[in-house]
Amino acid sequence: MEVQSAVELFESSFGRKATVAAKAPGRLEILGNHTDYNDGITLSCAVGQATEFAMAPVEGKTCSIISSMTGEITEFDLDNIDEAIKGDWTNYVKGVIMQLRKRGFEVPAFQAAVHSTVPLSAGMSSSAALEVAAGFAFSKAFDIELSGTEWAKVGQGVENEYIGLGSGLLDQFSSVFGKKNSLIYSDFRTNEVIRNVDVPEGYALVVANSLVKHDLVDSDYNVRRESCMNVAAKMSELHFDVKALRDVTPEVLEASKKLHDPIDYRRALHVVGECDRVIKGVDALEKGDLTTFAYLLSQSHVSSMENFDNSCEELDVLCELSKGHDACVGARLSGGGFGGISIHLVKEDQAEEYCEYIEKAYESKMGKKTETIICSIGEGASVEVL
Ligand code: GLA
Repeated sequence: MEVQSAVELFESSFGRKATVAAKAPGRLEILGNHTDYNDGITLSCAVGQATEFAMAPVEGKTCSIISSMTGEITEFDLDNIDEAIKGDWTNYVKGVIMQLRKRGFEVPAFQAAVHSTVPLSAGMSSSAALEVAAGFAFSKAFDIELSGTEWAKVGQGVENEYIGLGSGLLDQFSSVFGKKNSLIYSDFRTNEVIRNVDVPEGYALVVANSLVKHDLVDSDYNVRRESCMNVAAKMSELHFDVKALRDVTPEVLEASKKLHDPIDYRRALHVVGECDRVIKGVDALEKGDLTTFAYLLSQSHVSSMENFDNSCEELDVLCELSKGHDACVGARLSGGGFGGISIHLVKEDQAEEYCEYIEKAYESKMGKKTETIICSIGEGASVEVL
């Protein structure tokens, strides 16, 4: 494992050696938008971009963390972390400590250094990467044994209970269970990886960042979730076997259209459609049917625009421009939405040329920049004692 940057930062900042180093990747959501908190299914992957967390225990009650982003050391007292402080990035670490306390584990004081290559607030799960990296580091430093799924739930608990975002498990789960060079097909009812799915040979995933900050806590994320729950509740009154939107087919939902608030209905249509597209998408990839898979990616974005209303002009333009270059077979927004990134499935040998194309075309249309990344598919989180 290479966690050199955080390890070096630790040593130069604290004048001693770190004892444990962990690394957790960001993720891309390939298909299955907003399905996770509806007990649904997703196709995702971990990326090469990751967050490193190097640490060593220290006496007392004061924790000190340095970030390579700010170059500053932030301190907090373990007796004073009950409430998150708005805008403080160390909330994601303090929240992990709180979640562990809830599970009966006390995290003693420590010094830590954090270095991350995951773009912030972009839809690549920089916060989940930090939560998982911190959790994995604590597991080795303080002998805390939890399953991979439980570590993912610790991270989700930070979002749900400390930060105030009603997110699902996708981000942390992908960061824990990602597999190098493969997509993971996951079930968020059983919280299991169903199986790994190969990326089409000769294709790469290009990220084009709208650079519209997607701060999900201040977005309508929780409102979207509420709409999904409203429709699921009504559907379960009608059909005893419906526990969540995951159990509703597009046809059954359509037949009940009149019963729902029109906006809630469109939100549910997106989720139900996404679950359907995940099944069809996995099937298409496994049969080598790239045309169908690419079509599903595009349909997913259309549904975000028309039904879920979690896109924005910048993301729509990026996806529209993708059609103007024959290297790209399909594009969609990825992650929570309301800004953040789009993903583009692109012929590998033309990926660089495609990035140049999209950057130029976007700037000339929008008068502002996009940032592109040719993403490698990374391995899930790891930790080592140094
Ligand atoms: C964010 C959330 C995830 C998931 C996605 C949308 O990334 O954190 O739980 O809901 O949005 O699929």
